[in-house]
Amino acid sequence: MVYRTRLVIGCLFGVFVGVGLSMRVGDVAKAAEKTAAELEKEKALQNPYANDLGPTTIDISKYSAELQEGYRYLQKRCAQCHTPARPLNSQFLELKPEEIAEWKAKQPDVFQAPFVWQPESGVWQRYVKRMMGKPGCEVQQNEGKVIWKFLVYDSKTRKLGANKDKWAAHRKQLLAQCKEKYPKRYEELYGAKK
Ligand code: HEC
Repeated sequence: MVYRTRLVIGCLFGVFVGVGLSMRVGDVAKAAEKTAAELEKEKALQNPYANDLGPTTIDISKYSAELQEGYRYLQKRCAQCHTPARPLNSQFLELKPEEIAEWKAKQPDVFQAPFVWQPESGVWQRYVKRMMGKPGCEVQQNEGKVIWKFLVYDSKTRKLGANKDKWAAHRKQLLAQCKEKYPKRYEELYGAKK
């Protein structure tokens, strides 16, 4: 009887230790996951861009319903590690090869100031994918696609054509602010060596 009681206590003890240990393993895995996502966020915040000094919202009242949806996803998802200012005030300008030829003829200065405009085929697609590949990124596949469509349209609307000069002034102001606020980072990103 005494032996059986000891056996039962022994088993219970084993179960407690077992449960305790598996919980520990779970916690450790969770902590490691959290750390990877947190590290990514830290990295994003420790290395600012001129973009970050601009507004985090824009007027989308004239955009189509699908584009407005993309903007809402961007506001929600692309604010996880840095603010939405980073994509919204970016120099990236995604153009198709035929559009590049067209705009080179129409507005050649867009191709001569790489920190104001970076016209490139597929640039937003690449960056949305890159962000989605980061640890802990919560952007869903369907959301990523609409965010990309928004970024392509929005960049062409606010950075080209009738809005070209307004964009240049805005972006140059952000670059000047960045130079003053983060001189080392400014050199690294937009300095003479580059
Ligand atoms: C998991 C964290 C995380 C999320 C979520 C995230 N980013 Fe980022 N982002 C970063 C980090 C870190 C950097 C710094 C550069 C790098 O690592 O690529 C960055 C940099 C950028 C840049 C600057 C790139 C350059 O070289 O000029 C843009 C633009 C950008 N992100 C857009 C987005 C968009 C759009 C989304 C939403 C689809 C998004 N980010 C979501 C972490 C994130």
